[in-house]
Amino acid sequence: MHSEAGGDAAAPKRLFIKTYGCQMNVYDSERMADVLRPLGYAMADAPEGADLVVLNTCHIREKAAEKVYSEIGRLREMRDEALEAGGPRMTIAVAGCVAQAEGAEIMTRAPAVDLVVGPQAYHQLPELIARASRARGDRLAADFAPEDKFDALPVARHVGGPTAFLTVQEGCDKFCTFCVVPYTRGAEYSRPVAAILAEAESLAAQGVREVTLLGQNVNAYAGEGSNGPATLAQLVRRLAEIPGLDRIRYTTSHPRDMGEDLVAAHAEIEALMPYLHLPVQSGSDRVLKAMNRGHTADSYLKLIARIRAARPDIAISGDFIVGFPGETDADFEATLQLVQAVGYASAFSFKYSSRPGTPAAAMARQVDEAVKSERLARLQALLEAQTRAFNASLVGRRVPVLFERVGRRDGQLIGRSPYLQAVWAEAPTALLGEIVEVDITAQGPNSLSGVLAGDAARATAQPPVRPRAEAPA
Ligand code: 5AD
Ligand code: SF4
Repeated sequence: MHSEAGGDAAAPKRLFIKTYGCQMNVYDSERMADVLRPLGYAMADAPEGADLVVLNTCHIREKAAEKVYSEIGRLREMRDEALEAGGPRMTIAVAGCVAQAEGAEIMTRAPAVDLVVGPQAYHQLPELIARASRARGDRLAADFAPEDKFDALPVARHVGGPTAFLTVQEGCDKFCTFCVVPYTRGAEYSRPVAAILAEAESLAAQGVREVTLLGQNVNAYAGEGSNGPATLAQLVRRLAEIPGLDRIRYTTSHPRDMGEDLVAAHAEIEALMPYLHLPVQSGSDRVLKAMNRGHTADSYLKLIARIRAARPDIAISGDFIVGFPGETDADFEATLQLVQAVGYASAFSFKYSSRPGTPAAAMARQVDEAVKSERLARLQALLEAQTRAFNASLVGRRVPVLFERVGRRDGQLIGRSPYLQAVWAEAPTALLGEIVEVDITAQGPNSLSGVLAGDAARATAQPPVRPRAEAPA
């Protein structure tokens, strides 16, 4: 990184960020790009030839963490080859939850890594990069202080389409016994209402129509408002007033923090989309207790009933873990029963994976891998059938779709229904970023297809009277 006059200081540096894990990491990756843009870093879509590669990692399950080490190995080879060919030296950075949890270990196990930066220190990236390029030392920044981070990140966001993530809360105080998040992301912290509104307004000004509010425990949101801490429902109400922001989503919620005002918000706020990701993990009270979830199967079912009373068409999604230590056949059957009782529109399910440092890792009666696999297959078969049934229930209906991007085939656009299903239709690119009524005609394995309905269909059948501005692709 020489910068003498007449050198190549003005040439853009190439940045490649590989994102693993959850949507919070997707948001964080965008924010890292925002921090690095003023330093002349432009995004590259592959690591080959990049000046800086950031691996934004996930620690939630063992496999997720192991993938990072093999990726570092591949990058080291790529760097060596580029150096032999006389190219610039690629800086390799590890960010995210593996960085937080195993920072020191990464430096010894993978010496190819130049710097390690935890989720609360992204605003220090420019300094860390500079330091790493000067000397190998001082490469570790993994302290907790989320408020510093948010204050130090640039307000301006760079968005690439009509939807965006917006982190409103980070961290977790729930300490589910299987989970690393309370250790990697620290205590619950909520951003102040004013900061979130400012960010949302800047997004809306750039044409964003839909925001997804992110938090590890987003419905525990308690950010500073004008009269003390605000709830998530109050925050959503304020966001819904921003002109242009037509759709609001939030994820991930904990059953324990699902306040009645948030339930009511689903009945009252039109912009709040009818989709709720509400993990339950297990349907067995014994297992839920051992997981330290703080709710029972019955309290979860009653909560779902209250939410459906407020918003009857709401699509419910969940997370499940099979093979938690001590889980018996009867416990697993209770999970299947709960799934039957709820009827999920979508779900994520995992085999329990022992994470070092969590209480469950030390529990007796770890479940056999083969039993876990068998249970996961049965659970997934049931959940997939429910998803198909939910998608089938939309065929023949008219739904508003926010078109986000062009489809794989010419002339197609892809967007999302209010229920977060992917929907594609033949539509002109002028409809990118628009919310358009679509008649759903068929369901595929992971998406719905349809035809433009009513006004949108008529408008596209004739040449437009006034040419409209091309929406960002
Ligand atoms: N093993 C398996 N799944 C896990 N999850 C979190 N920790 C573990 C673990 N140790 C799952 C939970 C959580 C989702 C994000 O990941 O279902 O809701
Ligand atoms: Fe992990 Fe439980 Fe916190 Fe979710 S609520 S992040 S599963 S500890």
